[in-house]
Amino acid sequence: MDWGMKNRLARIFNPKSGKTVMLAVDHGYFQGPTTGLKKPRETIMPLLPYCDSLFVTRGILRNCISPSANTPVFLRVSGGPSVLGELSNEDLTTSMKEALRLNAVGVGLSIFVGEKNEDRTISNLGRLVNEAEEYGMPVLAITAVGKEMARDARYLGLASRIAAEIGAHMVKTYYCEEDFEKVIEGCPVPIVIAGGKKIPEKDALQMAFNAISKGAAGVDMGRNIFQSENPVAMIQAIRAVVHENYNVDEAFEFNKLKEKKMVSSVVE
Ligand code: R5P
Repeated sequence: MDWGMKNRLARIFNPKSGKTVMLAVDHGYFQGPTTGLKKPRETIMPLLPYCDSLFVTRGILRNCISPSANTPVFLRVSGGPSVLGELSNEDLTTSMKEALRLNAVGVGLSIFVGEKNEDRTISNLGRLVNEAEEYGMPVLAITAVGKEMARDARYLGLASRIAAEIGAHMVKTYYCEEDFEKVIEGCPVPIVIAGGKKIPEKDALQMAFNAISKGAAGVDMGRNIFQSENPVAMIQAIRAVVHENYNVDEAFEFNKLKEKKMVSSVVE
């Protein structure tokens, strides 16, 4: 592995814990101004100090994020369809040159295993990895779930393994309660979990805790952070689970503590 690739990976994964908290705010690339991201700058800026990288499109990055923010940028580089269309109909939207120009630490795209455009999206991944290897740029493959597919270990394991075989350096997939460790075992590159739809804070912390306990390398979480009643407290609690081995109750208390602290510092 070349120095550039190693250096980017070291900026993604905390060298001490070996894990990562990525903040996913790319949802608008097919959902438009979704809940919690209607005013991206207002939502994202207070969370930046607590994430290891920001998973974002170039449009939101250029228009809403200050270039002096020190948070590493992980760029979404695929897209095409809107939420009204066939979601698997994705292609590469952002060039490697652009990722380098934006000083990205990694690039991410979706593959749609079991969906209409499965083959094209997997080829997209292959093409992206070919180019990324030339520049020492880590590639994150996002395994989207087909509408008909159950989010179980068999399916998630299949999609994650295919992503790694094609050359992804990291995989983002969903957590499943049963046999998640088999998904991890079957995939030779680090797996981070997406959070999925908003669920109660304690349940989201439990999901992160379970995923980490079963071998996940971190989270790339969006809605369960930015749609939380207190996003800053929530991301800190997630951090405590991922990087500091907090259990769910400890992280939840920490979360509440921070909430109180924040209220009092505002009042002061
Ligand atoms: C999907 O639109 C994106 O890849 C998100 O980045 C991913 O689903 C993670 O976000 P969330 O935790 O909200 O599922």
